Amino acid sequence: MTLREATWWDAWRIWRWRNDPSGRAMMRNTGRVGPIEHILWFREMLSNDDRVQYVALYAGRAVGTGRLDRYYDVSPGVEIDIVIAPTSRGRGHGGRLIRELTRRAFDLPCVRYVVAVIRKDNAASICAFTSAGFQHHDEMNRFSVRYVQMRYTP
Ligand SMILES: CC(C)(COP(=O)(O)OP(=O)(O)OC[C@H]1O[C@@H](n2cnc3c(N)ncnc32)[C@H](O)[C@@H]1OP(=O)(O)O)[C@@H](O)C(=O)NCCC(=O)NCCS
Repeated sequence: MTLREATWWDAWRIWRWRNDPSGRAMMRNTGRVGPIEHILWFREMLSNDDRVQYVALYAGRAVGTGRLDRYYDVSPGVEIDIVIAPTSRGRGHGGRLIRELTRRAFDLPCVRYVVAVIRKDNAASICAFTSAGFQHHDEMNRFSVRYVQMRYTP
């Protein structure tokens, strides 16, 4: 798997993947995102120095997208968020993408850990992050949905 940074040319495909109903059910914001909202979000993302969105390529095809978000808590960390294209799921791409994003996160200066916040009922995602070496760190409720925070510390 190779990653390249997302550009405006990827806005449409990321919007489609983001709005797929099966994936949406597992996201923090489960609502459908409209085109204008997406374009505004995409523009902000491209200009945000603490955020990088990647497109994952496998055998020359775009199979998913993943984002690194830097944040500055007690110690500096990075949050990972991924979506695999609906037609490419269940083939190991989620695990590959998490490993590659984690490697890139630690190339950034001063990063101490990488986290992912996942709905507790998202078995595939929890499984993929666990296989990539993440461990259960915390749990929380947000709007009556249970989430787990998984953390990777080298
Ligand atoms: C979650 C998601 C990223 C997983 O990607 P994927 O490419 O389908 O997953 P993989 O093929 O790499 O499988 C990952 C692991 O989950 C397991 N798995 C896959 N589907 C599963 C399911 N429905 N239930 C339980 N486990 C499942 C696999 O067996 C594999 O386990 P292993 O690593 O121990 O072998 C993908 O389904 C997706 O994009 N979902 C919508 C968005 C989302 O939930 N993002 C995560 C928020 S951070």
